[in-house]
Amino acid sequence: MTTPVRDALPDGVPPLTGDVLAIRGGRPLRGRVDVKGAKNLATKAMVATLLGDTASTLRDVPAISDVAVVRSLLEVHGVRVTEGDEPGSLTFDPSDVESAHFEEIDAHAGASRIPILFCGPLLHRLGQAFIPDLGGCRIGDRPIDFHLDALRKFGATVEKLPSGIRLSTGGTRLHGANIHLPYPSVGATEQVLLTAVRAEGVTELRNAAIEPEIMDLIAVLQKMGAIISYEPNRVILIEGVEKLRGYDHRSIFDRNEAASWASAALATDGEIFVGGAKQQEMLTFLNVFRKAGGWFDIQEDGILFRREGELKPVVVETDVHPGFMTDWQQPLVVALTQAEGRSIVHETVYENRLGFTDALVKMGADIVVHPRGLQAGPRRVPRRDLEQAAVITGPTPLRGADIVVPDLRGGYSHVIAALTAEGESKVSGVDILNRGYEKFLAKLDALGADFDVLR
Ligand code: EPZ
Repeated sequence: MTTPVRDALPDGVPPLTGDVLAIRGGRPLRGRVDVKGAKNLATKAMVATLLGDTASTLRDVPAISDVAVVRSLLEVHGVRVTEGDEPGSLTFDPSDVESAHFEEIDAHAGASRIPILFCGPLLHRLGQAFIPDLGGCRIGDRPIDFHLDALRKFGATVEKLPSGIRLSTGGTRLHGANIHLPYPSVGATEQVLLTAVRAEGVTELRNAAIEPEIMDLIAVLQKMGAIISYEPNRVILIEGVEKLRGYDHRSIFDRNEAASWASAALATDGEIFVGGAKQQEMLTFLNVFRKAGGWFDIQEDGILFRREGELKPVVVETDVHPGFMTDWQQPLVVALTQAEGRSIVHETVYENRLGFTDALVKMGADIVVHPRGLQAGPRRVPRRDLEQAAVITGPTPLRGADIVVPDLRGGYSHVIAALTAEGESKVSGVDILNRGYEKFLAKLDALGADFDVLR
């Protein structure tokens, strides 16, 4: 990379920031990246601080914009957030939580879905809440019906307004509920956990999500004084308690970022050591990675990933945990465009999470997306028919092209595709990657990627 745009950070580490990159592909990515705490745990554990009467400390918090959005939302609700006692830790003092004003909340909600998880904690603290319309990646219509149905069962009144939703307890304490999710939704499971822990009585949650980030949130809540038992076949029981205290917790590592860099090593025929990655939470990914021609070595402080010989085609269906995560498929698809033969990636969690393949086709990939999937059978999410399958035929040499990043994980794939392609690509909208990948450009730079920040 020749002409970086660098701004100084408080700690002096010059990050690379930028929204449009000129990327020259054809060079393997080699070196080490370190992943911090999981974006999809840290943001939820931050919301949980509202439930405690005393201060909490969260460690290994990634410096990403999704965290910054939740931090400012907590601050407009009166939570004092300060740097913790070690780098990457934050301390939250919720002793002065008061209701914020709509314009302040809306100004801070940003492109995030996390505000919906403020409902339970604010209802317990203030008896009311206003949640603006949600942002987040455009990978489907991402409804919140499971969330609102659950909140009503806890005894909240929910009023939909043009600009968001207003909730109230009507001056009474929320009570436990029996909730059976139509689909093991991660967000809806978190909604129930964050509400049930201080509701009066017992809550039984069936068909719950059990992702490692969910289990880590349960660990956080247990540290606060919650009583949560996890039964076989996705049943979670929560005995509500009157009070909760603060916690001190080190977040689980970010599996999605770790898997992203592993797929980048596969696609660019490089070798990347991902510091902080652990085998247990990535078992399914590692199996698919190996079948696709990857080699990995589990070490004490991380996992070394590289390609071993030729890439091989695979058939993958995304699913809830312990299946192959929907967040893992996009970076893997880039590598599959270089495999000899036909691969199939069947997306079953979101109805529009294969849109990113358009840009890969523009670069020369042979990918056909079947909007009705491989069989038109009924879906786990009864309301929508969201079968989607991409058939990838390789190997097809990728050529540089001008592309625009569509969402977080799709955008990561576009950058890796540009690094895999021959020639130069201009990739716009890269800034979105700061939502989920800490110091993304600095990491690319450290891995030897050849790029310039144009703007
Ligand atoms: C979380 O999204 C993650 N985001 C996603 O990661 C991840 O892909 C997803 O879980 C699945 O693991 C965060 O944690 C911030 P869901 P979430 O509720 O909670 C449907 C990333 O890149 N549904 O499990 O929104 C929904 O439409 C992001 O880090 C309803 O129908 O996912 C989807 O089809 C992308 N009604 C399915 O369930 C509802 O009320 C799974 O969604 C809620 C969900």
